[in-house]
Amino acid sequence: MARREAGGVDYGFPSEPFPALPILLAEQLEKTCGGGSAAGVTAVRGVDLAVDEGEFVAITGASGSGKSTLLHMLGGITRPSAGRVLLEGVDLATLDDDALAEIRRRRIGFVFQRYNLLPELSLAENVALPLVLDGAPEARCREAAHLALEAVGMAHRAEHRPDALSGGEQQRGAVARALVTDPAIVLADEPTGALDSVNSGHVLELLQRLVRDRRQTVILVTHDPGIAAAAGRIVRMKDGLVAAITPGGLAVGAAGP
Ligand SMILES: Nc1ncnc2c1ncn2[C@@H]1O[C@H](COP(=O)(O)OP(=O)(O)O)[C@@H](O)[C@H]1O
Ligand SMILES: [Mg+2]
Repeated sequence: MARREAGGVDYGFPSEPFPALPILLAEQLEKTCGGGSAAGVTAVRGVDLAVDEGEFVAITGASGSGKSTLLHMLGGITRPSAGRVLLEGVDLATLDDDALAEIRRRRIGFVFQRYNLLPELSLAENVALPLVLDGAPEARCREAAHLALEAVGMAHRAEHRPDALSGGEQQRGAVARALVTDPAIVLADEPTGALDSVNSGHVLELLQRLVRDRRQTVILVTHDPGIAAAAGRIVRMKDGLVAAITPGGLAVGAAGP
């Protein structure tokens, strides 16, 4: 086999590039909720999942099958009861809360199933928040928030408080907030659940563009088979386990079926 040599010394490096590490790797992930005197509910029980950079993965499954719990662990929002998550090669369990918050802010865009917009802030302020918390200059925060709101068709509602917006409008705002930092990986929990079919289509196209044009990585939870089919791979959850992984319709990303 051909080897790369430097100064006549054979360091043993293969001449072909190393296979890229998955951007996100979950090993034997488990989460037991509750506990105390009552027996805890094991929402996720032993999930293995590897996601490559530039992949678009959909997670589907019945209500209560553990989709949100899994996504929260993948995004470093909740810590697993067992198993581990490696994001860009970093084991999240080795990070203290501040370091984890920094990775969440800079590398991950998370769309919460319940949006989680802060009621006392305008939509634009909500969207800018990840950049503001990161100490970005004010002009950049404003500009990036405006662009993100434009991308979801919500620029005209920038100055409204969340309670003056419909559920669908809040959801599009939550998508904008997740994209404002240009994150390496977007984790979106039912991001089209409150949207009509036209706006669902827009959000789906927006996420697909991130993958196609910018090689960002998207993991999307949905119980809509039409949305799931637009991903590159579909992970079906059942009772806290991965029941099946099947190819979707999007022919991008390095992963096969
Ligand atoms: N904080 C919690 N405390 C107790 N049980 C929980 C908690 N979060 C989730 N569960 C339970 O774990 C299971 C999976 O929940 P979830 O991940 O929200 O499912 P999905 O998103 O697929 O609907 C459900 O039975 C749910 O009731
Ligand atoms: Mg859920």
